[in-house]
Amino acid sequence: MDPAGGPGHLRSATVVLGVAGGIAAYKAAELTRRLVEAGAHVCPVLTESAERFIGAATLSALASEPVRTSLFDEREPIPHTSLGQRADLVIVAPATARVIAAYAAGLSSDLLVATLLATRAPVLVCPAMHTEMWEHPAVRDNLATLRRRGVHVLEPDTGRLAGGDVGPGRLPDAARILEAAEAALAAAAGRRQDLAGLRLLVTAGGTREPVDAVRYLSNRSSGKQGRAIAAAAAERGAEVVLVSTVPAEPGPRLEVVPVETAEEMAAAVAARAESADIVVMAAAVADFRPKAPAAVKLKKRDGVPEIVLEPTPDILAGLGAAKRAGQVLVGFAAETGDVVGEARRKLQSKGADLLVGNDVSAHEVGFGWDTNAVTILSRTAAVEVPLSSKREIAEAVLDAALLELRAARGGPPGRQGEPQT
Ligand code: C5P
Repeated sequence: MDPAGGPGHLRSATVVLGVAGGIAAYKAAELTRRLVEAGAHVCPVLTESAERFIGAATLSALASEPVRTSLFDEREPIPHTSLGQRADLVIVAPATARVIAAYAAGLSSDLLVATLLATRAPVLVCPAMHTEMWEHPAVRDNLATLRRRGVHVLEPDTGRLAGGDVGPGRLPDAARILEAAEAALAAAAGRRQDLAGLRLLVTAGGTREPVDAVRYLSNRSSGKQGRAIAAAAAERGAEVVLVSTVPAEPGPRLEVVPVETAEEMAAAVAARAESADIVVMAAAVADFRPKAPAAVKLKKRDGVPEIVLEPTPDILAGLGAAKRAGQVLVGFAAETGDVVGEARRKLQSKGADLLVGNDVSAHEVGFGWDTNAVTILSRTAAVEVPLSSKREIAEAVLDAALLELRAARGGPPGRQGEPQT
């Protein structure tokens, strides 16, 4: 067991400990000692006003490196970038209203805030201030902004404050800060980047096949599962193109190509499939479309129209027929009867590597729901994923696709275990 009593992420981690100018700054000495005992390499950074509350000599003696306070240190020309890059974790304890505001606004007015802006390491902010300040909307809003950006915030304790008042605003004790630090490091380590260097092409949503100028044939697909797969893949480091009939937010490494019909989807996929390592056809592509859609709105007074249907291009089967070695094709089968049997048949007939079968007649499963339950079939195995969020199903589908890719290429693809930046 390590001295922190935690899982040991702090052991040999480089921790920049930012100390801002509040009365709780004196507690930074104890925190530094505990971090060093937990095996961390601690680099303390004090704001100018923190130095009024705690002597730099005290912290320098307890920490692994001498205290830094200035952006303009003659020995180290750009201390904030080197500190930010070296850090595995930045802790700000105590964090004052000013430092929180400067960090949220991106105002690199001192070494501490400049380091916070220059780092890609996880950041743990531990606010400590008088209750009135803690409850001020400006502070609340700034913390909400930081949280939204992925900063970890440890809420202050309620208790006796400077001046004898009692209320929320006290810096939690060192043991709690260490626990939160372990959790922040664990969360960062848990973010997989196992799809980095890979290209994914994902389709989502039901296609809409025009009947006339205003009507179309479609299905109940919401596109949620396809969107979840695209988002999860981008977060795991892949370059993703999402061809979708439903609106989707583009993001870092996530391009969205809007389409409507099976024909448009087929063209968008054809133009991008060649360079894709993994293609996931999660879209519910219409199997038939009106042969001759009317260019104008059909009128009721002209009688009930006879709509002649013709088959749409089977995109997945086309990709399966033209599949290049080392590419993984994933299809979906939304079924109402023998789901696994149908999925197995489609795995063969479409030339896919994986077929994800789901029973769309079951409650909370498939079309429209936020949850799903699927069987992921490969040529050699069947993995049952019980009722889970579409995000969790997405992760399971990506895990299976990555396994197939590794097997097809005879080695690990992309870069493994890279930390998320
Ligand atoms: O044949 P069925 O529509 O049941 O097959 C479902 C799978 O095939 C899904 O992955 C779907 O995206 C794909 N598909 C396709 N082109 C079609 C019909 C289905 O790519 N025209």
